[in-house]
Amino acid sequence: MPLSLTQDVDAAAQALRVGGLVALPTETVYGLAADARNADAVGRVFAVKGRPPSHPVIVHLPDVDAVDRWAATVPGWALSLARAVWPGPLTLIVPRRPDVLDVVTGGQPTVGLRVPAHALTHELLRAFGDGVAAPSANRFGQVSPTTAQHVAAELGPLLDPTRDLVLDGGRCPVGVESTIVGAWDDEPRLLRAGAVTVAQVEQLVGRAVTRDPAGVRVPGTTASHYAPRARVVVTEPESLPATSAALTPVRFGLIALARVAPPDVPHHRLAAPDDDAEYAHMLYAALRAADEAGLDTVVAVLPPDEGVGHAVRDRLQRASATWTATR
Ligand code: TXA
Ligand code: MG
Repeated sequence: MPLSLTQDVDAAAQALRVGGLVALPTETVYGLAADARNADAVGRVFAVKGRPPSHPVIVHLPDVDAVDRWAATVPGWALSLARAVWPGPLTLIVPRRPDVLDVVTGGQPTVGLRVPAHALTHELLRAFGDGVAAPSANRFGQVSPTTAQHVAAELGPLLDPTRDLVLDGGRCPVGVESTIVGAWDDEPRLLRAGAVTVAQVEQLVGRAVTRDPAGVRVPGTTASHYAPRARVVVTEPESLPATSAALTPVRFGLIALARVAPPDVPHHRLAAPDDDAEYAHMLYAALRAADEAGLDTVVAVLPPDEGVGHAVRDRLQRASATWTATR
């Protein structure tokens, strides 16, 4: 029995009710979802991903009203932020209710909550009626999937086609994971960059956001993330000629904004986005394409540090740090 790639929301809701896993589309990346009240089902998510148990997972909700079933308290500023941005690419880390499973929170006193903006998944969450725990639908440390085909290729052999399925909602529009904001007290803290920028959060909540909060553990944002098999080399546009010359004779894959002049050495163009939003949208598919083409090196010319470009730079720097650290 082959793994089903479907748009059947009722089948997906039924799979969740009986402890199955549903890979689902969101506006950011695909998630691998389980009933967040079912410890065995969430445990299977960790097993399929090969994810260490101490890493908490985000609970995805149908709407902002569902927050009270998971959060013990939510600061006023965070609630107004949620109301302004949800459904959208923002996760809030808030104090948990005592009945939230430890397997979801990694044993921490907080829980991550988000209302994703994707029509199919919104319908699924409404049909299911409660929260689903969903990390990105990739093996631990790998590149997040932005199509149903990416999920099937990477996790298909590890899923059980008699219980699990992939809800196919096409390509994820944003392309990088949600912005994570710590919201357990008066001080908003940026824990992971995403399409919702610090400037937007500051404008919406009317207070300063702490960018690199000291002493806050955010598993999954360490250096060993977002990496393809290929080595990733990052460079600013002005250093591209020197970087390429240093790599020659390696024929490398290039990701760069279309306006950046390509180097005068043999290379394989993986993506030529027009702006930061298109860069984010194409990034993970381009990294996967590099592995499919058997390239050993990807040169990524960083976009300007503006808008979602900040998150793109963050992911690429982590991908390149991973290579340096582990290979
Ligand atoms: O866009 C996204 O956020 C995607 C889609 C599927 O929603 N999900 C995603 O999940 O990126 P994941 O598991 O790959 O990354 C979730 C991040 C991890 O870095 C995790 O450590 C952090 O959220 N996180 C979740 N709950 C937390 C908590 N209670 N305290 C601190 N960090 C938490
Ligand atoms: Mg992930």
